[in-house]
Amino acid sequence: MAARKPKTSKRAGTGTRAGAGRAAPAPKKRGTRTSAPPRKQAQAPAAGKRASRAEPAQARHPLMKTLYAEHRHIASVMQLLAEQLAAIEAGEPADSHVIYETMDYMVTWPDRYHHPREDLIYSRAAELDAGLADSVDTLQRDHDNTAAAGREVLEDIEGWRDGDVSAASLVKKGRAYIDHMYSHMNSEEELVFPQIESTLGAQDWRELAEDDHLRPVGDPVFGYRVQREYRNLARKLRRNIRRGVERGTLVEWLSVEALMESLDVLAMARESIRGSASDHLQAAWEDGVEMFRESALTAPWRCAGNNVRLGKRLLQELVEISRDALDDLSRVNRERKARIDLMDS
Ligand SMILES: [Fe+2]
Ligand SMILES: [Fe+2]
Repeated sequence: MAARKPKTSKRAGTGTRAGAGRAAPAPKKRGTRTSAPPRKQAQAPAAGKRASRAEPAQARHPLMKTLYAEHRHIASVMQLLAEQLAAIEAGEPADSHVIYETMDYMVTWPDRYHHPREDLIYSRAAELDAGLADSVDTLQRDHDNTAAAGREVLEDIEGWRDGDVSAASLVKKGRAYIDHMYSHMNSEEELVFPQIESTLGAQDWRELAEDDHLRPVGDPVFGYRVQREYRNLARKLRRNIRRGVERGTLVEWLSVEALMESLDVLAMARESIRGSASDHLQAAWEDGVEMFRESALTAPWRCAGNNVRLGKRLLQELVEISRDALDDLSRVNRERKARIDLMDS
């Protein structure tokens, strides 16, 4: 995967609403993934994978598990939107229903449930750990900004469908939203979530879980029942997941098949080399015996000359065998790539 977008400078220089002048939270993980990539800068968040390695899954409170799961859902919706925007940019057919539903989902679900739930949990953690205040304040304000940006993109999608907003403008604004969403979730997962999990105790989680705003609510796309207005989005997401699994399995199978064929090529080359060397050795021996029979006096000189000649021929054959083997290996690899390309087309 491509490197993710560098952490925004926003966090480094903000945090003034509740925590002006406070020491910044220890940025121990910052800078570890800041290699600047090309345009496709932002990357989907790890969605819990990183933190999962740090502690056993059973130690994670269900509320945190929910936040991580929602990040995965948001990331898959953003990926789908990015694909649709790429299609628009390339002048290829794009599904305007799906495009609309992605952003409608974002302003309806994450902005109404995911971010407010985070705000509640963040606030509780910031009460207990003043060092978290700056990050929490920045993220909470970012939730407001993101919601406003999401509504704007949704309006642009409507305008684009009506012919009032250009495709280029929609693509630009949509991508900025996607990049920002990834960056926001990465900040949460890398900086804030781990600190929250180490700050909040069992009693804190119990009290938070009793808050009505943190009660489970069925996700309209990823929940048990897909709401009708998101059916195109849900269908497309499922197709993407299925395609990803099928492609992964087939690529793996094709690679294994190619590996086996490559091993066959190498085994045959080894056999050829062994056979050729054996033939040359046999010829050298038989020629030598014959030469000693003819004249023992001159035999050593003639044998030496004969062996040099046979050695050269053996070397030439080895080179040819190696060249054939390399050609075969290249062909196997080319065929593997062609079959994967064919599968992707
Ligand atoms: Fe958030
Ligand atoms: Fe989040």
